[in-house]
Amino acid sequence: MDVLIRNNYKDMSLCAARIIAALVREKPNAVLGLPTGSTPIGTYKELVRMHREEGLDFSGITTFNLDEYLGIGKDLSKPYAQDQSYARFMWEELFKGIEIPLEQTHVPDGWTKTPEAYCAQYEDAIRQAGGIDLQLLGIGGNGHWGFNEPGTSLASRTQVVTLTQQTLDDNWALFYSKAGGRREEMPHFAITMGIGTILEARRIVMLASGSGKAEIVARALEGPVTAQVTASAIQLYPGNTTVILDEEVAAKLSRIDYYRHVERVKAQYHTLLY
Ligand code: PGA
Repeated sequence: MDVLIRNNYKDMSLCAARIIAALVREKPNAVLGLPTGSTPIGTYKELVRMHREEGLDFSGITTFNLDEYLGIGKDLSKPYAQDQSYARFMWEELFKGIEIPLEQTHVPDGWTKTPEAYCAQYEDAIRQAGGIDLQLLGIGGNGHWGFNEPGTSLASRTQVVTLTQQTLDDNWALFYSKAGGRREEMPHFAITMGIGTILEARRIVMLASGSGKAEIVARALEGPVTAQVTASAIQLYPGNTTVILDEEVAAKLSRIDYYRHVERVKAQYHTLLY
């Protein structure tokens, strides 16, 4: 696990965008796993800039999003019409800006009438696409990846979950209210890729910023592996992981000097994977 510590949110975002851009150039038909939330917005902005100004080409890329509220989202007759859906978020923040063909994007269908069967289909679709080359992740205030709330099995597959009050509150303040949603209409259920699904990606890039998440990031990266902090599953990941943090969120890591040392030495020997 490479832990890269950047000065601020902007530098964290640029670093993540460069990693994704390198993959897109190297493998024009790569499969990306993508998150929503406030964390990846800077990364998405930079990818849009790279598309517009540097011609970074997403036309062959396939994407799978981590999660979507249930009872909201992609209405197939009116794609991306629901303002508070994650499908809409992705369209606004990334998909329209990088001009990716929409049929190559996948956000769990929040309108599905058969959620259990749908979750199995989502897993199949990922498999049929050849699996995820790079999974970008944030981390929730309660340590979740996707909507895998505390207590979710670390072997979970794509499934329907019940959101915690903390997640509802966090997402209300940061996102749902700003998109014009009504509190009482906020869904309590969601579809999320499972932790087991996420761990099958060929590469993981996790982002976090801000002092509010310093404690939970330290627990996820350095604490015990536990279903109470589902992002701690990163410690079980067998492959290549890059965690990109800003100074504030890294403040409670006990091995911060070692992480900086590793980055310096790897940079010296040109073995950093970004
Ligand atoms: P945030 O959400 O990026 O808005 O903090 C992250 C998450 O809940 O996974």
